[in-house]
Amino acid sequence: MEILGIDIGGSGIKGAPVNMDTGALTAARYRIPTPQPATPKAVAKVVTKITQHFNWQGAIGCTFPAVIKNGHIYTAANVDHSWININGESLLSTETGCPVLLLNDADAAGIAEMTFGAGKGRDGVVIIHTFGTGIGSAIFVKGQLVPNTEFGHLEIRCQEAELRASARNKVEEGLKWKAWAYRVNEFLARMDALLWPDVFIIGGGISRKQDKFLHLLDSRADIVIAHMQNQAGIIGAALAAAQRFHT
Ligand code: BGC
Repeated sequence: MEILGIDIGGSGIKGAPVNMDTGALTAARYRIPTPQPATPKAVAKVVTKITQHFNWQGAIGCTFPAVIKNGHIYTAANVDHSWININGESLLSTETGCPVLLLNDADAAGIAEMTFGAGKGRDGVVIIHTFGTGIGSAIFVKGQLVPNTEFGHLEIRCQEAELRASARNKVEEGLKWKAWAYRVNEFLARMDALLWPDVFIIGGGISRKQDKFLHLLDSRADIVIAHMQNQAGIIGAALAAAQRFHT
């Protein structure tokens, strides 16, 4: 069985059908740059284009970088603020003509990693952080997701963690790997002190460069690198949709 997974990000909107038994993409990923401004209408148009590209008519799982409950979008830290208080699920379902499940991007990445990747078979408390434009978080307790955690906004040294230690900070401030890893370690230490996880999974675009920074990270908990890199959102969204729509 296949479900179409779509990942809405700040720079690109990507989609591919996903095999639910293996987590493999069954066709090449299709990517369209995120329209600017990324208003609900403009983004919905791109999501529809991706749906049409795959000639898709079934269920769709879609990520969005915000707090989402029952399709309703509550926050917009790194996206156009006109998304706040919109039911993103209704909008995308109407535009695409398909049943859509919308969920937080880091939650989707976490679901993918827990099912097919670095978190597979890991019991206890697992925390995944995605390092990209912001810092996403997802927490699993005995494999069960606690949705919509927003630990990227935890304050460290009077600043939100995602404004200090995201991948964007590394680029924009020209931080060397060591300096960036120092900030990430501060963040992980705080998370550890508050939540005492067994494992941290490091995901997001930065996970591709693990050889540059993994040896610099340090925590009482295990630290592992996500396996699915930029496909995790697509795969996790599809898995979540399969559960919701029982397909
Ligand atoms: C948002 C989260 C999102 C994370 C990663 C944060 O700014 O508040 O909802 O998961 O960025 O995209």
